Amino acid sequence: MARNWISTPRVEGKASRQAHADLPEGTYERELGREGFFGPATHMHHRHPPTRWTRFEGDLRPRAFDTTHCGEFGPSPWDSRALLSNASVKIRIWEMSGSMDQLARNADGDELLFVHRGAGHLFCDYGHMAFGEGDYIMLPRGTMWRLESAEPVRVLLIEATNSAYQLPDKGLLGPHAIFDPAILDAPVIDEAFLDQQDETEWEVLVKREGAITRITYPFNPLDAVGWHGDLMPVRINWRDIRPLMSHRYHLPPSAHTTFVANRFVVCTFVPRPFETDPGALKVPFFHNNDDYDEVIFYHRGEFFSRDNIHPGMITWHPCGFTHGPHPKALQNALEQSKAGTDEVAVMIDTRDALHVEEPAASIEWPDYVDSWKE
Ligand SMILES: [Fe+2]
Repeated sequence: MARNWISTPRVEGKASRQAHADLPEGTYERELGREGFFGPATHMHHRHPPTRWTRFEGDLRPRAFDTTHCGEFGPSPWDSRALLSNASVKIRIWEMSGSMDQLARNADGDELLFVHRGAGHLFCDYGHMAFGEGDYIMLPRGTMWRLESAEPVRVLLIEATNSAYQLPDKGLLGPHAIFDPAILDAPVIDEAFLDQQDETEWEVLVKREGAITRITYPFNPLDAVGWHGDLMPVRINWRDIRPLMSHRYHLPPSAHTTFVANRFVVCTFVPRPFETDPGALKVPFFHNNDDYDEVIFYHRGEFFSRDNIHPGMITWHPCGFTHGPHPKALQNALEQSKAGTDEVAVMIDTRDALHVEEPAASIEWPDYVDSWKE
């Protein structure tokens, strides 16, 4: 972890003594920070909200995509092209129903599924696991898998290209904070799994460097009768997350990290009470997270820092400008009318610049950049 190269913070002009609390009257706090909320940072007190721009000209801007408008989905997850991607991560939306009649295998990296809608059954090398709305399912690279569902299942797929998902270091809090790793479920070899083993022909669609290879077997290769080891798919539902919070300090989004991979992290925002200290900020502080691009997938609830955002939307704030609460949300900075937020959202912060892929262009809400205007 990088440390600050100036050991003592300096103070200039009118400033608060601590971050995110007791701001000078009539000012707006902006955090200029490095290393994604872990590195050197300065809190600046502005006369105007730093999101009151009148125009962006050029490619860099906050962007929003409405995945509820994603229409046609093929029978394989590999039919869905990435919406946003870089060398370390690919973000896709996919919907299926019925029973996948081919197996999928990602040879490019671990795959994290987040179940936005629906419920069903996962069958994979390791056995059977039922899943439902709000589950994360982490599939290690190379796992063969398929889904069965009577209802449409819509998933957010987050590929850790060339790397593996791990749990974050919880530091001072100890390993059982946020969620106890004992809550992670794994597939089991049960009757349902043994019953699906058959001697008919099965194809495996292997994705490697984005290209698909078909491997045919004269039997169902999900034919294990047992296994032992410490490599396996795991599942956790957002309802199992017990979020960190402080009644006196607005925690940075990094406090909500669920998984880490090479050059990106996945965080989960779940329902929690608002801060109650009179001087503490109750909405996210304005910030430029100068080393990361930030993506949020809105799953359910009311998004307390955003106006005009509904479940199924994705926002992307590339690094290079300041972002923060929308005008209506900003009115609640010091006094919230509600006791807490019911939002559930998945955040993906990437160390390297993301690229908008062609399927995302057709579902873009182009006016998002203007959504901070009063
Ligand atoms: Fe942010």
